[in-house]
Amino acid sequence: MPDTFKVAVLVSGGGTNLAALIRSQQEQQLGPARLCAVIASRPSALALDKARAAGLPTAVVCRRDYISQSDYDAALLQKLAVYQPDLLVLAGFLTRLGPDFIHHYERRIINIHPSLLPSFGGPGFYGLRPHRGVLDYGCKITGATVHFVDADYDHGPILLQKPVTVQPEDTPELLQARVMREAEWLILPACVRAIAENRVVWKDGQANIIEQRVQPGL
Ligand code: GRF
Repeated sequence: MPDTFKVAVLVSGGGTNLAALIRSQQEQQLGPARLCAVIASRPSALALDKARAAGLPTAVVCRRDYISQSDYDAALLQKLAVYQPDLLVLAGFLTRLGPDFIHHYERRIINIHPSLLPSFGGPGFYGLRPHRGVLDYGCKITGATVHFVDADYDHGPILLQKPVTVQPEDTPELLQARVMREAEWLILPACVRAIAENRVVWKDGQANIIEQRVQPGL
């Protein structure tokens, strides 16, 4: 395994998960993982400010600048090729990725979602909507999920989940903030570290994190 493990982060919004990764790296909590680039789906993404403040290279690739999904995928692949990332992290990235793109980075793309998948995930469940769904349904527990990305929204092998208790006085906004604080900002860096340390074991299409590092090639 190389000494460093390069991680590109794809963002669309505020970038609090990106900030959690930056903080973890600064606190030497990411193991051999190093953030190598931040790619945004729109120039106004606040996450770009956080990336620049941390001295990370940034780029913007907008879906609307490309006619077809495959043109967009090709442009994104080309942009990423400059950084040669070992892992892509979708941290609030709202643009659909096509099958060719996903195939190119098979088992090397993870996404963070603010619910316990498969509940409250899929098309339309972004922003406050998963949290509103949890409250409307009367769930007593929610949480966050990190999963490997496949061709469907919020689908693909689950890597790590963390539960968060729903409080009677919760609003979607309060719940969103607590899920981020108590779950998302913890499990995303933990997953990046586990992958970089080669501590993910695949069996029957499922992914599990183990405590001990797996030797390269096993
Ligand atoms: C997070 O809730 C994440 O789980 C979801 O989108 C949101 C992004 O927030 N996929 P931020 O941009 O990291 O603040």
